[in-house]
Order: sequence, then C-alpha cells, then structure tokens
Amino acid sequence: MIRACIFDLDGVLVDTAHFHYEAWKRLADSLGFEFTRSDNERLKGVSRMTSLDILLEIGSKKISEKKKHELADLKNNWYVEHISHMTEKDVLPGVLNFLQELKNGGFKLGLGSASKNALQILTQTKILRFFDTVIDGSNVEKAKPDPEIFKKGIEILKVKPAECVVFEDAVAGIEAALAAGTFVIGVGSREILNKAHVVIPGFQEMNVKLFQYFTEKYFVKQLNNYE
Ligand code: BG6
Ligand code: MG
Repeated sequence: MIRACIFDLDGVLVDTAHFHYEAWKRLADSLGFEFTRSDNERLKGVSRMTSLDILLEIGSKKISEKKKHELADLKNNWYVEHISHMTEKDVLPGVLNFLQELKNGGFKLGLGSASKNALQILTQTKILRFFDTVIDGSNVEKAKPDPEIFKKGIEILKVKPAECVVFEDAVAGIEAALAAGTFVIGVGSREILNKAHVVIPGFQEMNVKLFQYFTEKYFVKQLNNYE
C-alpha cells in the first residue's frame, strides 16, 4: 500500500527548467560557445557544480576550481533573479489540486530536490505548506542519480521504499528513485523517461483515483511475475 509521495521540484511542480537553461546559456554565450536545449536535458536533476562540469565539457573548456566557483555563483545570481519574480501562478497546472487531494487522503508528502534554491521557490509559490519534509541540495552529500536524497526522505517520512512513490522529470532522478526502491512516476516525455514505472505528461489529468490505479496495477503485475 502506498503511504507517501516524494516530489522533485524543478520541472515537476514548477517550470523552472527554462530559467536554468536561460542562465546556463548566458554563461555559455559569455564563454563563447553554443549551448542548446537538447544539451540542457543532461543538466536536469543534477547538482549545480556537476551541471557546470557538463557545460564546460560541452564547450571543451578547462578552468581552475576557483574560477569554477565564480562561474557557478554568476549563473546562480542570474537564476535567482529569474525566480525572484515567481508567484503561486507559476505552479504547474493540476499540481495544487493533486497535492490537496493527496493531503486530504492522508498521504505523507516530501520534497526531494537537488536545488539549493528549493525553499525560496516553495515559499514564493506558497506550496511549502503541503510538505511534511523538504530535502534539498543543502541536505545531501551525493547528488542524483545517487539514491541518498530519496532514502533520506523515506526514512524521515517513516515508510518503507515500496510504500513510497517518487515523481520525477529527470533521468538522473528516476535512476535515483529506482535505486532507493520506490515506485517511480515520470513526469514528461515517455521516450526520455522510459525507465520509470509509469509516465504522465503532467498533473492536469491527475487525481488520487488514477494514481492508485497506476500503483495497484503495477503491484498486481509484480505479483503475477512472481507467481
Ligand atoms: C535541479 C535542476 O532540480 O536542481 C538542475 O533540475 C539544477 O537543473 C539543480 O542544476 C541545482 O539547482 P540549484 O538551484 O541549486 O542551482
Ligand atoms: Mg527536476
């Protein structure tokens, strides 16, 4: 039986992926190389410093650790400028209803995001109130695809991995959740997120009934495989 849900933030509850992209692209422009939207897929779900390493690899740039921290700060300042204008209107369609339904249904809710800006975004968009725990980039040592963030969430919410569903929009996040042993619902494109147990395009059509149908169907399938 499912008792808890852990949500990723960027690209799942709010559409911040394009703000990240704008800021990384500005940095790539300033360093004199091209950075495309398809390059940006590789940065989804991974930490700020790993994202910078991937970006520099794309641009074939080798720089010192000190300079790297300066560039990461520069990118973050541009990104924070974008998110400082966010309000509850920036919560993705269907999310508020679904979170409220889960809350009413007695599910425990957690947030598991690689972002160190997660609390600011949750506060500005007024969705912090839904979560029993928030684990962000400041609380973990190993970034996704390592399962640390979701293992921590499961422990704090006091449930077993098999009683927990993770919602993720990034390949690294799906790998992390699978390694933590949870049921995983991908949010986005089926082609990109094909390792998830189920993929939904977004939360517009989502409700607790459908959510329970997905998880029950999966467990019945597991049981049949076992027999
Ligand atoms: C993740 C995003 O949620 O957070 C990544 O998908 C981002 O693209 C990472 O790099 C770290 O975010 P921040 O806000 O700490 O730079
Ligand atoms: Mg994400």
